[in-house]
Amino acid sequence: MKLLWSAANTFMCVVLHRALSSVVALGANIICNKIPGLAPRQRAICQSRPDAIIVIGEGAQMGINECQYQFRYGRWNCSALGERTVFGQELRVGSKEAAFTYAITAAGVAHAVTAACSQGNLSHCGCDREKQGYHDHEEGWKWGGCSADVKYGVEFSRRFVDAREIKKNARRLMNLHNNEAGRKVLEERMKLECKCHGVSGSCTTKTCWTTLPKFREIGYVLKERYGVAVQVEAVRATRLRQPSFLRLKQSHGYIKPTDTDLVYLERSPNYCEEDVATGSAGTRGRLCNHTSPHPDGCGLMCCGRGHDTHQYTRVWQCNCKFQWCCFVKCNTCSEMTEVFTCK
Ligand SMILES: *[C@@H]1O[C@H](CO)[C@@H](O)[C@H](O)[C@H]1NC(C)=O
Ligand SMILES: *[C@@H]1O[C@H](CO)[C@@H](O)[C@H](O)[C@H]1NC(C)=O
Ligand SMILES: *[C@@H]1O[C@H](CO)[C@@H](O)[C@H](O)[C@H]1NC(C)=O
Repeated sequence: MKLLWSAANTFMCVVLHRALSSVVALGANIICNKIPGLAPRQRAICQSRPDAIIVIGEGAQMGINECQYQFRYGRWNCSALGERTVFGQELRVGSKEAAFTYAITAAGVAHAVTAACSQGNLSHCGCDREKQGYHDHEEGWKWGGCSADVKYGVEFSRRFVDAREIKKNARRLMNLHNNEAGRKVLEERMKLECKCHGVSGSCTTKTCWTTLPKFREIGYVLKERYGVAVQVEAVRATRLRQPSFLRLKQSHGYIKPTDTDLVYLERSPNYCEEDVATGSAGTRGRLCNHTSPHPDGCGLMCCGRGHDTHQYTRVWQCNCKFQWCCFVKCNTCSEMTEVFTCK
């Protein structure tokens, strides 16, 4: 299965990364004009900060990878929606899955930029200056070391990722909300790490600093938020023609979603059949599990179309023994294995 997941990484940032790392000196102008689908403001950021563009590409890729991991057992596996979300054309769908994709990508960019700042890889940023020097806290510790400047990363993600939303429609409100939700989840999950100083392990003084959470953790939290995503509709404030805010669809009155809610406008398709309009790649050819009652089982995954069985012989080295002196002798073991794919 692993092979199949990793094979699908066609995100253009990888290409971008390779192109950029060798030719930053060539002039940002040329490169930034070559990246397809950049919004005008994104192009401007690209030109003024070519070093950051590489990090942005890595952050977006990290988001997509996490999306594929979180949805590896689902009919929707992050494929069709998963590509080209930061640099490419906007998604044309307003589903829950699009909501997750936006949130995780925006969080990925914020995470990557913050990490790069902490490691001194980007100009214009570094450790969080507000958390340097001494603070007399009740707990009796002081800020020390390098605190990750998540505010900078979040602000950068906001400036770059959100700049793609140029059309004034309901989906813009949806996308901006989900971008912000992803970044908010990241901010809420920042960690405090501390270290004791003093003779033989005593804690006479303690210094603490903030660190980024592992991105996997953000993936799990956003997956949970996806599970309880809320349907919204856009409301036009009277005389303005543009939709101006979102409210929960099944509510009386004007209840707004909370900051960390993922929001969607349209119900999702069942992702059984390929359909470009809804962003569904279908499940034909997907690996499924013959015995699982869960969504990765052939019944659910293949939507009742049935599955094909492929048999192959798995061969590996086994019963290895060390022989004096000095080599290792192994037998060859083999086993018939089956994999199943959806019709
Ligand atoms: C997702 O599913 C599509 C088709 O159903 C398949 O082509 C693609 O390789 C899968 N991607 C991953 C990452 O598993
Ligand atoms: C910082 O740069 C070093 C050297 O190029 C690289 O190995 C590291 O992964 C970078 N860190 C981040 C967070 O981008
Ligand atoms: C298939 O599903 C069963 C039951 O959920 C599980 O025990 C088994 O490890 C799965 N097999 C594979 C190859 O993932």
